[in-house]
Amino acid sequence: MSTPEPTIYDVIRQRRDVRAEFTGDLVDDATLLRILDAAHRAPSVGNSQPWDFVVVRDEQTLTRFAGHVADKRIEFRDSLPPERAATFEPIKIEGITESGTGIVVTHDDSRGGPQILGRATVPETGLYSTVLAIQNLWLAATSEQIGVGWVSFYDADYLTELIDLPAGIRPVAWLCIGPVHQFQQTPDLERFGWRDRRPLENAIHWERYGTAAG
Ligand SMILES: Cc1cc2nc3c(=O)[nH]c(=O)nc-3n(C[C@H](O)[C@H](O)[C@H](O)COP(=O)(O)O)c2cc1C
Repeated sequence: MSTPEPTIYDVIRQRRDVRAEFTGDLVDDATLLRILDAAHRAPSVGNSQPWDFVVVRDEQTLTRFAGHVADKRIEFRDSLPPERAATFEPIKIEGITESGTGIVVTHDDSRGGPQILGRATVPETGLYSTVLAIQNLWLAATSEQIGVGWVSFYDADYLTELIDLPAGIRPVAWLCIGPVHQFQQTPDLERFGWRDRRPLENAIHWERYGTAAG
């Protein structure tokens, strides 16, 4: 008997932010393109599609970015009170060189011109759209058993210069992407005692913010 296809709920449950589990093999281009196609099908305000994807595999670029991220990690650790610094210390925050592929997701707020249908009242909807592309990418990768890790320990100016982003194009995420040994069942930040997932009932409000579950 064949095993049933995983449902979208299975994929959502399996998705993890991956740092230590990359095998070191590269994601093949056909799989990468399927995943990027899924990202590119995201909804966007006024159908503006403000995202782009810069695929980075050059070893020197990966190593330079990893060095920058390591510096930012130290800056963050040094900003913590001693007890939090000790909790943070063993937590790996990126798999830049191990994954062998970085995808920089960028945002162009000017795409589609000044009159974006739906953005006039909520300017952030442009950026929300790019983030939805990232979530599509993350879930599609998981369904392919490919890991993704979001790295945000960087100065935007540094990354902009590293990959030659033109003026007005904003880097939104560096995503490490590649085959994995396994997906952890529990998020790293929970496993290492940094922060737990909130119970769903605490996140649901009925009719007014602040009212308990009905
Ligand atoms: C906007 C954003 C930025 C993040 N930046 C980092 C990062 O720099 N390094 C890291 O290890 N994880 C990063 N993460 C991953 C989160 O730590 C992770 O999603 C969270 O702990 C829950 O774990 P899970 O994704 O495995 O469920 C980021 C996630 C998001 C959504």
